[in-house]
Amino acid sequence: MPVIRFVREGRDVECYPGENLREVALREGIELYGLKGRLGNCGGCGQCITCFVDVAGAPAGSLSPRTAVEDQKLLRRPQTWRLACQSLVESSLLVLTRPQSPPADGEDLWATAQASPLPVGPTAWPEPPAPQTEEEVAGEAADGSTATSDEGADELPRER
Ligand code: FES
Repeated sequence: MPVIRFVREGRDVECYPGENLREVALREGIELYGLKGRLGNCGGCGQCITCFVDVAGAPAGSLSPRTAVEDQKLLRRPQTWRLACQSLVESSLLVLTRPQSPPADGEDLWATAQASPLPVGPTAWPEPPAPQTEEEVAGEAADGSTATSDEGADELPRER
């Protein structure tokens, strides 16, 4: 599975192949937006151009190709910038959030992030939990440890 190394935040985050970069960042509590984007963003439609990220040095194919929206919206931006909401993560890469406001120690952060190899991460999709056996289900019912569909039925008003 891909590992996204967020350079500014100093965090490695795993995601599933094909996950949307913006959604992964938001899920992990990574701040993607500057003040303008925090006050109002398009919610991932590719219209507000506030979810910039810099993916300098990303291996080819680690993100989905630029969309037509990005080609239009990023005309005057560096080639290494992407819109997080338009980018699907395919393999591990480094990401700098909010490159329009680079951190004062940005070069050091990039150097630190590049110094250690990206972890491979899990290489297989997680296994779904094994189905319960009839004995396990019966045991839980006897313990009363699992809610049943009849739970609370005595509290419902009876129809006449
Ligand atoms: S969230 Fe608006 S362009 Fe990405």
